[in-house]
Amino acid sequence: MATATLTNAAVKMRPMSASTGMEILDVDLREPLSDAAYREIRLALNETGVIFFRNQKIGPEHQLAFARRFGTVQPVEFLETVSGFPEVGIIRKDPEQTRNVGGQWHSDHSFDPVPPLGSVLYAHELPEKGGDTMFANMAAVYDQLSDGLKKTVEGLRVVHSKKNAAYSDKRAERQADAELMKRFNELAHREHSHPMVAHHPDTGRKVLFINANYTARIDGWSEEESRPLLDYLFRLAYRPENTCRFRWEPGALAMWDNRTANHYALNDYHGARRLMHRCMVLGSPWK
Ligand code: SIN
Repeated sequence: MATATLTNAAVKMRPMSASTGMEILDVDLREPLSDAAYREIRLALNETGVIFFRNQKIGPEHQLAFARRFGTVQPVEFLETVSGFPEVGIIRKDPEQTRNVGGQWHSDHSFDPVPPLGSVLYAHELPEKGGDTMFANMAAVYDQLSDGLKKTVEGLRVVHSKKNAAYSDKRAERQADAELMKRFNELAHREHSHPMVAHHPDTGRKVLFINANYTARIDGWSEEESRPLLDYLFRLAYRPENTCRFRWEPGALAMWDNRTANHYALNDYHGARRLMHRCMVLGSPWK
């Protein structure tokens, strides 16, 4: 992708950084996306891992309609949901809370047998300062490995586990009904092994499918053996050069590809409220 504002037949775009993220300009998500606009937006998502829209005035129905352009929206598993919209989860941190959702580098539900295609997050209420989200493009990170390291990691599998990653929305826990808590407890024990170098299901591009929060170990290796290689890869992946940082404002929407991007919700706004709505699109098995 080029570095200047891109203008083409259907949409205007502006890269967020050298490798990660594309801002989509002048699109009103209350209107259905034309096929041409969708194709260009999809290409930008595939290429940069995450796309951003600002100044939207949408409800959950528009958020769902947008997500459905990319595939089937999957059920919300462990968040409270928006009244009347069971496929839209609420991500919220209240002033008295100290922990947030997603406050470590991760990829949503990477411990599922088939990781979600993507997540669509819409901002409702934000702190005056703080609460940004960072993204890293793990396909670009793979490209940076030496030929020798590429060969070493090529055949490896990694175990992704929810177990060690504390679910941190205490408010949801307090208010959870029995069914929600049952689902949460099931989720807490879910783990799955994925190729470390995965072929993206839509593009075939190689991505380093690991993330600091859910990747527990290399399959068949002990945790102690796994740590040095994983830590090296995380250090490389999360270098500022491989990331972009999104400053939210009410009405902003991001969609990231969970196979390509890792993300990190900064938790630097204690005492303030942040309220977001998220839905997720079902993925397909690795190629
Ligand atoms: C998430 O991890 O899905 C939430 C990200 C955010 O709230 O910025």
